[in-house]
Parts: sequence; structure tokens; C-alpha cells
Amino acid sequence: MQANIVTLPGDGIGVEVVAEGVKVLQAVATKFGHTFTFENHLIGGCAIDATGEPLPASTLEACKRADAVLLGAVGGPKWDDPAAKVRPEQGLLGLRKGLALYANLRPVQIFPQLRDASPLRPERLEGVDLVVVRELTGGLYFGPRKEATPGDMTAYDTMLYADFEVERIARKAFELARLRRKKVTSVDKANVLAASRLWRRVITAIAADYPDVMLEHMLVDAAAMHLMRRPADFDVIVTENMFGDILTDEASMLSGSMGMLASASLGEGRNGVYEPIHGSAPDIAGKGIANPLATILSVALLLRYSLGLETEAAAVEKAVADVVAAGYRTKDIYTEGAKLVNTQEMGDAVIATLG
Ligand code: IPM
Ligand code: MG
Repeated sequence: MQANIVTLPGDGIGVEVVAEGVKVLQAVATKFGHTFTFENHLIGGCAIDATGEPLPASTLEACKRADAVLLGAVGGPKWDDPAAKVRPEQGLLGLRKGLALYANLRPVQIFPQLRDASPLRPERLEGVDLVVVRELTGGLYFGPRKEATPGDMTAYDTMLYADFEVERIARKAFELARLRRKKVTSVDKANVLAASRLWRRVITAIAADYPDVMLEHMLVDAAAMHLMRRPADFDVIVTENMFGDILTDEASMLSGSMGMLASASLGEGRNGVYEPIHGSAPDIAGKGIANPLATILSVALLLRYSLGLETEAAAVEKAVADVVAAGYRTKDIYTEGAKLVNTQEMGDAVIATLG
């Protein structure tokens, strides 16, 4: 097939990991006889430097035209001034909103050989296989807000949801659960927040259309605890935008490193944004030591969800699993006796395994 892929490396290690993702996509194209064309665009801090805006109109337009978007990360100390008018993160949020990508899928799997890289006891990790479905274009990130000003030192953000926003993310979660272990855990704070009470009511109503899927509700504080205490009990977790942001950083520790978790941001169409859940990691940027596996696993999701290439997606996932099993480790997942490799060597190892 022929596909046009927009790459948005962004800032920090985003540049290094996206380069490996592109390498893998090129290897997939060669092996399976596809033609992928790549268009590189600016987002985040580098876009602010070049154009004054974190999401230039040309970037958003290119993404709208694309078959899929592969993104690295945005942000860094250079653009961190709290008084700044524009922030790199606005580029990412604007992209998600601009493409109406309301569903963010973040799968958490365990690589058996990485059990020792997790801070949790290995026996706790037995059978862990979950997906967080994070609502991505509403909630606390997008509700009415006010910044503090010298004359008015109050500030607020609002967790605002309309029923249709909860309904469409609920359907994504239930559909996904049907392909898995048929269990949905809806995470909210319904004992305190009105938005969560609406969330719970809508989720419960939609569940009636999926009688084959088991639904449980869980408060977000309890969910944070149970993710550590009994992570294997979760199948699909569906939750509000910021709750999902927080819980997925936590959940990444199950797999050993932020450097292992991929994500797919999807809407109604085929197009999507694929990105590692980790950030731009300015502390290690430019050193060539970042773990590209989260980005490479995001490439697998891109092949699966935007291009419909399941065989190719599974081949990339298997190559990653094989490389990990063969003992290749970037610094973040390194344990005694393993083969320490840099970012490019890890990408090369995946491609060599892909054959
Ligand atoms: C993520 C990131 C972003 C988010 C930031 C960079 C705006 O943390 O994708 O998880 O909060 O959504
Ligand atoms: Mg995050």
C-alpha cells in the first residue's frame, strides 16, 4: 500500500526516537512491499523558536492530510518560563483537539525479561495486560480556565464534560474490551466531582449495549493504589483526560520504564497520532541513550490502527519482544549482565530481527 506519514519529532529525545521509528517503518515498507512517504513538520518548542507558535498552521494542515502522524515529544527547560505566552505543550494539545482525537489508547504489557526493571515485586506482574483508554480532548485539560494575573491572583481549570463526549469514549472502551478479556474499569472521582457523576451515569447507560462486557467503577485514588496492588486484575481502564495522564505514568512502572509505553490517539476516522507516552527528557537529550522502543511500539499501533496492516504491526511487536528477550537494553531498562546499547543500536537490532 501507499501511505503518507507526517513525522513530528518535536523536542529533546523526540528527535532521536522518531528517527528510529522512521527507520523501522522504512524496513517494514521494504519487507512487505509498501510505499511510505514521510513529511517532517515542526511542533512544540522547536516550532516556537522557528515560527513563534507551538503548532504552526502548516503543521496542522499536513497532519489533517496525512494517513497517520508519528510524534516524538515536546517541551524542555528553554520554554519553561511560567510567564511565557506560548508553551510547547499547547502544540500537542492543539494537535489532539485539531484532529479531534478524543481516544488515547495506552497499552501496558509486561516483557517477562524486564520484570527486574520494574520497582514492583516480579510476582505482582504475573499476567499484567491492560489498556488505558484516556479521554483526550475534554475534561480538565480543555475546560474553561483562567490564569492568575498580578491584579487577580486566582486561577482555575475546569473539568467539563458533555454526555456525548463520555458516550463516545465509553464506546471505544467497550468495543476494545470485546476484543480482549471483556472487562471495563471506569475510573472517576464521583464521590466529589459533578463531572465524574455525569461520567459514571453515562458509562453505566452505555454498558447496557454491551451486556457481554463486565463493568466496574473505581475511584481514581483507589485505582492508583490497585494498579500497584493487583495490576493483573485490570483489562480496559477508561478515564478522564488528566486522570489518564497520571495513571499511565504510574502504569508504565509495571513494564519497567516510561521508555516502553506506546500510545495511539484516535478519533472517528482512520488518521491518528502515535507517540511514546514519555516526554522530551531534556536531561538525556542529544546523548543517544534514549530508549526508542516506546516509539517503535507506537509505530506498530500506527500500522494497525491507521493503515490496517495487522500482520506488519504484529511483526514489529514480535521483533521488539525478541530484541528484549535477546538481552538488548538501553540504559533505562539495563540490568546486570544485559547488552547495553544506544538508541540507534536498539533501532538497528529491531530491524535486524524483523528480517
Ligand atoms: C502525555 C503528556 C502530555 C499530556 C503533556 C506533554 C501535555 O504528559 O502525553 O502524557 O499531559 O497529555
Ligand atoms: Mg503524561
